[in-house]
Amino acid sequence: MKYMGSKARFAKDLLPIILKDRQANQAYLEPFAGGMNMIDKVDGIRIANDQHQELMAMWQALIYDNWDPPQLVSEDEYKHIKNNQDQYPKHLVGYVGFNSFGGKWFAGYRRDKEGKRDYWGEHYRNITKQVPKLEGVELSCKSYLELDVPKHSIIYCDPPYASTTKYRDGFDHDVFWDWCKQQSKAGHQVFISEYNAPEDFTCIWEKDAKTTFSWHAENLSTKLALERLFVFGG
Ligand SMILES: C[S@@+](CC[C@H](N)C(=O)[O-])C[C@H]1O[C@@H](n2cnc3c(N)ncnc32)[C@H](O)[C@@H]1O
Repeated sequence: MKYMGSKARFAKDLLPIILKDRQANQAYLEPFAGGMNMIDKVDGIRIANDQHQELMAMWQALIYDNWDPPQLVSEDEYKHIKNNQDQYPKHLVGYVGFNSFGGKWFAGYRRDKEGKRDYWGEHYRNITKQVPKLEGVELSCKSYLELDVPKHSIIYCDPPYASTTKYRDGFDHDVFWDWCKQQSKAGHQVFISEYNAPEDFTCIWEKDAKTTFSWHAENLSTKLALERLFVFGG
């Protein structure tokens, strides 16, 4: 799914590192699963959490309720749904809201002036292609701070990055890094995608991000936008 801050193009690099020492029956947990562009490439016990309610309602409907989403939504319908969200089912609002510029929540109707691109068809195909790969994933919709983490889990965090577009509810980065530290000390294997981390974390992988997505790089020049993976200690 096209999603702001999607890790789709880094999955090939990141997953072999994150899953290297995975044991049989070891849970893989993503507290910030978003567009599911990493977890759809992982097998075994998987938990996908994200606090975005409409987004998770959409995944629930697609994966477990056999929902067939619309293949076309007109600009008028898009606007009506955007402005009257409580009149529509949450899963539909989620599906429509994320087919916007840059995969960003209701950031504007995507339209191709020459009419060549079928954005709704692309959205439909991208998402429905993911659904079979997500069968069996346990879904959860809460703040990462409220998660019950199974013993000895692998936790992959792809949080809203510091110095990027503010999320609806804001995000406290100090609290987040503290939580990662606590989870590591509790015996989980914790991996974090970010551009930078506090000193007691170690960078174990980096790559030029060259992103144009505002989510991760709004205030950074492309030169500074190195996509990195961190672990605590090291
Ligand atoms: C960078 S995106 C994740 C993208 C995902 N890895 C992908 O490849 O599609 C960050 C996600 O964190 C979620 N989020 C923000 N604050 C959160 C919180 N406190 N608890 C759980 N999820 C949160 C947002 O809704 C968003 O989906």
